[in-house]
Amino acid sequence: MSTPRRKAKDKEGLFGKRVLLIVTGGIAAYKSALLTRLLVRSGAEVRVVMTEAAKRFVTPLTFEVLSGNPVADDLFAPHTEPEIEHIELSVWAERIVVAPATADFIAKSALGIADDLASTTIVSSRCPVYFAPAMNQAMWRSPTTKRNIETLKRDGRFVIEPGSGDLACGEEGPGRMAEPGEIVDVIESSFGRGELQGIRVLVTGGRTEEEIDPVRYISNRSSGKTAFAIAAEAKRRGAVVELIHGPVDVPPPDVDAAREVRSAAQMARAVKRAFPKADILIMAAAVADFTPERKSRGKMKRGEEVVSIRLKPTTDILASLNKSDKTKVVVGFALEDEESDRKAMEKLKTKGCDYLVFNRIGPDTGFSTDTNSVVIYGRRGRIASTPIVSKREIASVILDVLVKDKRIRQKSNERK
Ligand SMILES: Cc1cc2nc3c(=O)[nH]c(=O)nc-3n(C[C@H](O)[C@H](O)[C@H](O)COP(=O)(O)O)c2cc1C
Repeated sequence: MSTPRRKAKDKEGLFGKRVLLIVTGGIAAYKSALLTRLLVRSGAEVRVVMTEAAKRFVTPLTFEVLSGNPVADDLFAPHTEPEIEHIELSVWAERIVVAPATADFIAKSALGIADDLASTTIVSSRCPVYFAPAMNQAMWRSPTTKRNIETLKRDGRFVIEPGSGDLACGEEGPGRMAEPGEIVDVIESSFGRGELQGIRVLVTGGRTEEEIDPVRYISNRSSGKTAFAIAAEAKRRGAVVELIHGPVDVPPPDVDAAREVRSAAQMARAVKRAFPKADILIMAAAVADFTPERKSRGKMKRGEEVVSIRLKPTTDILASLNKSDKTKVVVGFALEDEESDRKAMEKLKTKGCDYLVFNRIGPDTGFSTDTNSVVIYGRRGRIASTPIVSKREIASVILDVLVKDKRIRQKSNERK
């Protein structure tokens, strides 16, 4: 069985597009070598400009080989051509990507300083410009950087937000450059790859909390990472995305509407209200199957006796929705100890789903991890499977399946 992920050779989202990559002097410059490769693989013609500081981190030769073009780095380079280089570059480029974007280069760009080839190209640019900041967390949080980022956004520049985590300097926090694959996705969707243009996608995510008393609850380890990756990917592909999530461990992505709920009952009500407007429902939330029959009004006191809590089943949200509108596409999730085609197909049918994403509980799969491995079932059986990959890649595989669904293709064509 083949996995419907885009293979290198058929990933032509940027076919024939002209992308100018500006590499500035941060430690993440090494990641821009991979970025160059991915842009080229996506079909783009790539030219690279480097600042003097950038050349201290990676050699121009690396980018020359990967892009297949000479690297430009000198504002006053002797001219064999009649064009002035920074003007020629800014006219040539359909997109400019600054990656990594140092605090220094962000500050210069916010002020319009033009004292080298890279900064002069930004000032003379006439196409959308994307900054992928990368720096130490204190530099990212500094009031000057914040102010400069705001200025860039106000000026119509785009900022590909950095992630959080271990930084090269040994500290932890925000400031890690977005992964090269994410940057390519942003650039691709800026050209309107948008297979989900005009499609309304409702995604649920995170866990629910079922109260035992005012201070205790029953919950699970769902982090919300899969649902958020799906919501972000759907947004990137042009969908109008609504997110309903319970408690989570990571911040939600930037979508059209996001609503936080706590219990399974609140989740059920919110989904029931939002479902009529949705074209696709992706139920990635780990909704509690049981809730205490009775909630204690006061905090339960410890005594000598064994206490038992009676649990009653919660509403099965997927099974309870009115699915008479057959143009809607419903995706369910199942998390089990063992993989079983029979069980997965049974679940898909009893819940009335069009697709079921099956994942197994394991050390690198399931809840709270950054990776997962899934099998996707359709009404006729298995459609796709993945090895253990990032949740972002899982999201991409799920959406690759959905964009091929006839109902979605038809609606998207009508609404384009
Ligand atoms: C080892 C090292 C790592 C650096 N990493 C970063 C970084 O990740 N982000 C950043 O904004 N500046 C970083 N700097 C500082 C920049 O290199 C410095 O501000 C330089 O002037 C940037 O020049 P440019 O913006 O013209 O490329 C680093 C400096 C050194 C010595």
